[in-house]
Order: sequence, then C-alpha cells, then structure tokens
Amino acid sequence: MSDSSSPKNSSKENGSTPKTNPENVHQETVFPASLPVLPLSDLVVFPFMVAPLLITSKASTQLIDEVVANNRLLALVLQKNPETEDPNVKDLHTHGCIARVLKMLKFPDESVRVLVQGLKRVKLTGLESHEPFIRARIEPMEDRVEQNIEVEALTRNASKVFQQIISLSPNLPDELKVALFNMEDPSKLTDLIATNLNLPLADKQKFLETTDVKERLKNLASFLQKELDVLQLGSEIQNRVSSALSKNQREYFLREQLRQIQKELGDGEGSGGDVKELRERIEKAGLPEEAHKTAIKELDRLGAIPMASAEYSVSRTYLDWIIGMPWSVSTEDNLDISRARKILDADHYGLQKVKERILEHLAILKLKRDKKGPILCFVGPPGVGKTSLGKSIARALGRKFVRISLGGVRDEAEIRGHRRTYIGALPGRIIQGLRKSESNNPVFMLDEIDKVGSDFRGDPSSALLEVLDPAQNTTFSDHYLELPFDLSHVLFITTANWLDTVPPALRDRMEVIELPGYTEQEKLRIGAKYLVPRQREEHGLTPRQVRIPGATLKRLISQYTREAGVRNLEREVASLYRKAGRRIVEGKASQLTLKPGDLDSYLGPRKFFADSAERISEPGIAIGLAWTPAGGEILFIEAALVKGKGNLILTGSLGEVMQESAQAAFSYVKSHARSLKIDVEMFEKHDVHIHIPAGAAPKDGPSAGVTLAVVLASLFTGRKVRPYMAMTGEISLRGKVLPVGGVKEKTLAAARSGIKMILLPEKNKRDLEEVPAEIRRKLKFTPITTVSEALKLALS
Ligand SMILES: Nc1ncnc2c1ncn2[C@@H]1O[C@H](COP(=O)(O)OP(=O)(O)OP(=O)(O)O)[C@@H](O)[C@H]1O
Ligand SMILES: [Mg+2]
Repeated sequence: MSDSSSPKNSSKENGSTPKTNPENVHQETVFPASLPVLPLSDLVVFPFMVAPLLITSKASTQLIDEVVANNRLLALVLQKNPETEDPNVKDLHTHGCIARVLKMLKFPDESVRVLVQGLKRVKLTGLESHEPFIRARIEPMEDRVEQNIEVEALTRNASKVFQQIISLSPNLPDELKVALFNMEDPSKLTDLIATNLNLPLADKQKFLETTDVKERLKNLASFLQKELDVLQLGSEIQNRVSSALSKNQREYFLREQLRQIQKELGDGEGSGGDVKELRERIEKAGLPEEAHKTAIKELDRLGAIPMASAEYSVSRTYLDWIIGMPWSVSTEDNLDISRARKILDADHYGLQKVKERILEHLAILKLKRDKKGPILCFVGPPGVGKTSLGKSIARALGRKFVRISLGGVRDEAEIRGHRRTYIGALPGRIIQGLRKSESNNPVFMLDEIDKVGSDFRGDPSSALLEVLDPAQNTTFSDHYLELPFDLSHVLFITTANWLDTVPPALRDRMEVIELPGYTEQEKLRIGAKYLVPRQREEHGLTPRQVRIPGATLKRLISQYTREAGVRNLEREVASLYRKAGRRIVEGKASQLTLKPGDLDSYLGPRKFFADSAERISEPGIAIGLAWTPAGGEILFIEAALVKGKGNLILTGSLGEVMQESAQAAFSYVKSHARSLKIDVEMFEKHDVHIHIPAGAAPKDGPSAGVTLAVVLASLFTGRKVRPYMAMTGEISLRGKVLPVGGVKEKTLAAARSGIKMILLPEKNKRDLEEVPAEIRRKLKFTPITTVSEALKLALS
C-alpha cells in the first residue's frame, strides 16, 4: 500500500513512525501531516474495508475533487449526530480512518459516487482550515497486539463464532468464511468482524477508537455471542413456525395443487356448479346440526374430487341421501275421529278391535301431540286384510304409507344398510322407505315379519329390534347414512301369519292384534259390500250390466274357496267379472245376472266339498282340528292294523311333537285296554299304522292328542267315530286333556267344513267368547277334561 503523495502533501509529512509490528510491516506507510476530512453521517469505515459513498453536498464534492486530483487520501470521520448538516470539527468524533479513493463517478444530477478503502486508524489533532471543507492535522494510530495464548484463544474463538454466525445469517455471504479462514492477524480479524457485524454506530465508533487488539477481541466476544444467540433463537422459531405451518397447511397446499392440476387437465371443471347447487340444497333441507356438519364436510371433500372419478359419484350419492331424507318434514295428522272412522269403515268390513285401537291412538294424539306411535302387529292368516288395513290407517290419519316386505330378508344390511366402504352401498330399507315417503311420520308397514330369516350375514331381527324399540329408535343409525335418524314419530305396523317364528324379544315390543279370519256370513258381507263393487269398478262395469246376487256369492264362498281370508274369493269374483265382461263386449248379452247355477259354466265344477261325514265310514278314522299359518284346518286321521309285533308306524310328515303325542295316545289305549274291552293279544300280533293325509304338508303340535287316542280306540274296538264331529286337545299319559291354542281359527275351519260338533278342552271354554256368535249357533261345543270322556262322546 504505497502512496503517491502530492508535492503539497509531502511537505506536511507526518513523521511519527508506527510501532514496530512484524506482521504489519506492509502497513507501514508515510501519511501527510494533514488531510481533508470527509464527515460520514451513518457509517464507520475500518482499515481494509472497502465502502461505496454517496456524496451530495457541495463542500464534500469539492473535497473529493481535490483529493482525486492529489494523492487520493482523505480522513473519514463519523459525525456525532447524523442529522447535522455541514458539520464543523466540533460536530465530529476525534477518531476516524485514513482512506484512499479507489474510484470516483460523477452523475448528471451533480451527485458523486466514490469507492473508498480504509487504510489506518487516525486521530484528528487540530483544525487546519475550515473552508471550503475541513482539513485537519492527523496522527495515524498503530494497533497494539500482544502475542500470547490469551490473544490466540480469543482470536480463535472470535473466528469460530463468527463462522457460525455467517452460516446462520441470511445477510452475510458465505465467501466471508473463506476470508476469515485465511486471516491470521488478530488485528485485521477484529476489524473484519466489526465491519460485518450488525452493531450500533456508537459501538463501531468505539471499536475504531480502540487500538488495543486484546481489548477489541474481548469486546467482540460478547457481541458475537449475543448475535449468535439471537440468530439461533431466530432459526429455532423459524423451524417451529415452518413445521407448524407444514402440518396445518400441507393438506391445503396439496389440495390446491390438485385443484390446479385438475384445472390444467380440464377435470373438475363442472364440479363448481354442482357444489354450489348442493350447498344451496343443504341449507334448504333443514338438517339437524350433526347432519348439517357432516354434509358440509362431505361437500368440501367433494369439491376436491375430480368429477370423472368413481369416488365423486360415491360422495355425491351420499350427499344426495343426506339431503333427501325428510329430517324435518312431517305431515299434519288429521285428528278428526269421526272422519277417520268413516274411512276405516269404508275400506274394511268388521275388524272392530283394530279400528277401535286406531281411533284410540288418534284420540290420544289429539291430547298429546308428541305421543310416540304404538307398534302394532297384525297377526292372522293370509287374505284377512292385514296389509290393506295398514294402507287404510294411513289414509285415515292423513299420513304417508310405506310398506316393505321382510319375507326372505336374511341380511342385517337389508335393514340397516351397507357401510359406505362397499362399492354401490345403499342405506337399508328403513331409511329408503322413509326417503320414499318424504315425511318422518309415515305409517310404516313391516310386512311378514314372521318370515325374517337369519344366517351368517347377521341377524336382521336384531336390527329390527332397534327400529321397533321406542327407547332406541329416536337415534336409529343406518350403516350407510351414519347419522342418527329419529324414528319415534313413525307409526310402525308389522304383520305376521303367526307369531311362533317371531323372536320373543321382538314380540315383546309389539302390541299384537289378531285377525283370525272370517265366518261365512262375514265373507258374504265383505263380498257383497266391498269385493264385488271394487272388482266391478276395476273391470269398468256397471251394476246394471252384471249383477252378482247374494246366493251366487254364497255358493262361490262355500264351493269355490276354502280359506280364512277373502283373497281367493276376491280372485274368483274378479274372474267372474272378467268372463261376464267379455260376453258383454262380444255382444252375446247386454245385461247379465249371474245365478248360482251359472258358476259351473263360468268357473268350472265346484272345487271343495263340505261333507266331511262321508269319509267316516269305518272304524279308525277321526277328524282333528289343526292351526296353521293359513288359518284353521280340519285334519283327517286314519289308522290301520297290519300284521306285526306291536310297533307304531307314523306317516304323513308328522313333526316330532305330534309323533310323541301319537306314542302317548298309543300307550294310553294300551294301558286302558281292559276298560275299553280290547283283546290284549291284538297289540302283540299287529303293528299300528297311523297316517294323516295331505302328506306333503308338515304337521306338528300336541293338539292332535285327543284325536289320536280316539282313532286308536276306534280301531281296536271296532266302533266308528260319530259323523260331523271334530276334536282337539293335548293329552297327558294319565289321560287328562290339556288346553290348546288357535281355538278361534279352528272353529272357523270346522264350520267351513260342515262339522256340527266339537270336543274341546274344558280350559279352552273361555276362548269361545271370541268366536263369532254365528259360529257358536251353528256348532255344538262339548268341553272335555279326560280322554275317557272323549272316548265316550266320540265312539258310537
Ligand atoms: N274386512 C275386510 N273388508 C274388506 N276387504 C277386505 C277385508 N279383509 C280383507 N279384505 C280384502 O282382501 C284382500 C287381501 O287382503 P290383504 O292383502 O290385506 O291380506 P293380508 O292379510 O295382508 O294377507 P297376507 O298375510 O297374505 O299378506 C284385499 O284386497 C283386502 O282389501
Ligand atoms: Mg299382506
């Protein structure tokens, strides 16, 4: 670093020689005794530092001009107050830095930019001139460096810490590390660090004024440590913030990216409109809070799925289901009781008990609006009007009607739906039915609840339990919907042909109402008042065109149908109208009255014969009464003797219980052989064969016990059973007669078949109260308590 000193300046050379510093030999330079002083407002320049300066004031520009024209040397000194304009010597610090102007650039706006390099610390010792710029006497200052372990340790530490600071700081270039690495001179090192460290101006100035390098190192150490701490803390915060951000917003960013990609690909274009429309529908649907939340969440998800993907339609379908459910839609009940009665009567003949029950419920609803619907169970043989009564009830209440058939349902999912993870999953039939009904309080008929099966796919009746239990069904949960739906306003009606196959837990929750079947008289009235007019209308005929008088209906009932209900009767009536209608259309007649005798030509020969008596022509035949899901039935029981060793042979699809009844009856007869005057040897030389015709239909139950005993006694005694007599009753080994079920249905069947007298257990006498008076008049009932009584009455 040599100096091209101008003659002017060389005359004022500063004679002070720097202290010998072997490492600073190259710095030993001779400076003039005085130099122009450039005040700096916001910068401390250290030796070896290169800095650009912007000069705007006139005085400073002149100064630069002169400096550049001479030896290019000047003193840079910090102002005490950066605000001071045109400062004089008193406004400046006393210490500064000698510098050389490396480059100068003039700009058209008269400002000047210079690049200066610091050379040496300097002290201003006195003012030389004031105008046009400050010129002062100077005294260059030498650094004092001790060579010892402490200084070395301080130096290394400073270097190390500053390296770390460079790594952490975004503002310091990495090249600084290289410079630092090659810097062994502690004096230069401190200046380099001080230059680059972010320090207050006052501190920097103090560094400039300190010539003791060890002190500078000590001062630096604390500044460096503080700076490092700040930077480390900062980066920690930075890390924490960015990890929190990534957690929360990763998904957002991904979605956003996905959206953009879809946009690029032209996918998902239309979903915007879809989503908007769905959102409107959600807001309008009156969803309960939980459903609303789920719907909105699903909608957000939908928005991010491409429209063409399968998942889109899955999600969309789910939303449709949520929106489509009648969460808060209910129909207004019509609580006019006399109107309801009229409607019920208009649709169905008789069935007083059921009608009363419905009207009672209506009345209670009038008193207490939020009364939960009862769960009614209509039990009875086919065709007695269970299903159609349900419809009629809905009409009377002014509610919607839904019917689902449970016949053959084996899978729990049919009731409760499939989980949405299955492709093509749908809600169960309950939810489907409700959506179809578009109200949350329909009359909901669960038809044929006795035909629900259960297998490995789970037990549907357990799901039904939840549906039908008032304690649970306020929050019925479908696997598909996964939202609780309140079923408590639904009026559930179940139907069954018989209750035996309905699980007891389910039976417990329902109010059972029996529809036992109709007597001949009732059928006649139903036929004349309901079926005939209805079918006539359905075939588009007027009463004048085709007339079906009562006598014809009567023959139709007794000779063309044999059933507890009226379904076949209705079918036969329909068939009559069809055929008569055809004759009218063909022009063969314009008015027809169908007489009883015409039935053969319309429907073929009679299908049923009532006289059961004809078949009891010899000993060993008796008539029992059975109760089946199709209503009551009469049962012929026949026995025959074949050569053998006293075995009992049973045929005709008898169930286990009935077989045991036969064994008991056989034992009874054997043990009473003497009093019955039977030759005991007959038992040893013969087998007894008991057969019950209609062999394909399974028969079971204990109620044939009395009949079996009578048949066997008749067979062995050779005495015929009285004609027109039927019997029912379970027996004990000791010969007692025990009560049986289904008396009403059995008596109806007996009456249909022309029976005149019935032997029935004494304990079943009270069941006769429920038998229609018309039947009681027609039939003679004889109560029995023991088998021997039965034998006395039955055998001629
Ligand atoms: N008391 C009645 N008055 C008028 N019509 C009746 C009466 N009982 C039954 N019906 C008519 O008989 C037909 C058969 O009735 P429905 O289908 O309701 O029988 P169901 O008891 O449900 O039989 P299933 O057990 O086989 O389902 C219907 O058209 C119904 O209107
Ligand atoms: Mg039905």
